[in-house]
Amino acid sequence: MRLDKLLANMGVGSRKEVRQLLKAKKVTLNGKIIKDASEKVNPDKDKVCVDGEPIIYQEFIYLMLHKPPGVVSATVDAKDKTVIDLLSEQDRRFQPFPVGRLDKDTEGLLLVTNDGDLAHQLTSPKKDVPKMYRAKVKGDLPYDIVQQFAEGITLDDGYHTKPAKLKILSPKDESGISEIEIEITEGKFHQIKRMFEAVNGKVIYLKRHRMGNLELDSQLPIGTYRPLTEEELAYCFSLRAR
Ligand code: URA
Repeated sequence: MRLDKLLANMGVGSRKEVRQLLKAKKVTLNGKIIKDASEKVNPDKDKVCVDGEPIIYQEFIYLMLHKPPGVVSATVDAKDKTVIDLLSEQDRRFQPFPVGRLDKDTEGLLLVTNDGDLAHQLTSPKKDVPKMYRAKVKGDLPYDIVQQFAEGITLDDGYHTKPAKLKILSPKDESGISEIEIEITEGKFHQIKRMFEAVNGKVIYLKRHRMGNLELDSQLPIGTYRPLTEEELAYCFSLRAR
């Protein structure tokens, strides 16, 4: 990797600022002053310092984001604000992306990373990682809905979903709204909304609380994010070994 790229990626400054630092002889590579921005570095072995301070290279970033409604789970969008717009400039340098889509109006747990392999482990239906949501649903739900969801539901396009675990948290109130908890292991387009539509229910509020063992941090204000803890990271990496 080029020295100027490493320094810029680690937030030392823009490429232009990095070039100025190099010119000012402030950058050392394994103890030797380097002025050439294109110098090749091995981030695993070489020691890079700026003003004598070591620069620790980090390739991947793993963030837990509490997605608010109204932003889209994409990296760029012509019309809407994206979840990436909620990140600091420093974190955006890692070119992270959201793992698994949440609809624009859905809120809750979203993992944001630049680790494509991990994203695959968490979202591949083959891996059977359960995703738990809580929802408010309007309408008369069938008496045997728990059983129906356990057997899988045929969606409007004919696709039969994998089994879903459904719990009724509070039955229909006077406005016709029930509160439910649902666990699914796939992520088809609008899956939960379409599963309820298939039984004449309308999801009016949806929030993801859990993906595998990753639980939305109850202390994390909506619209904000934090790095994964060591324990959360250890869980993520354990998925790879499965
Ligand atoms: N199912 C949906 O319908 N929407 C989401 O955002 C996530 C799951």
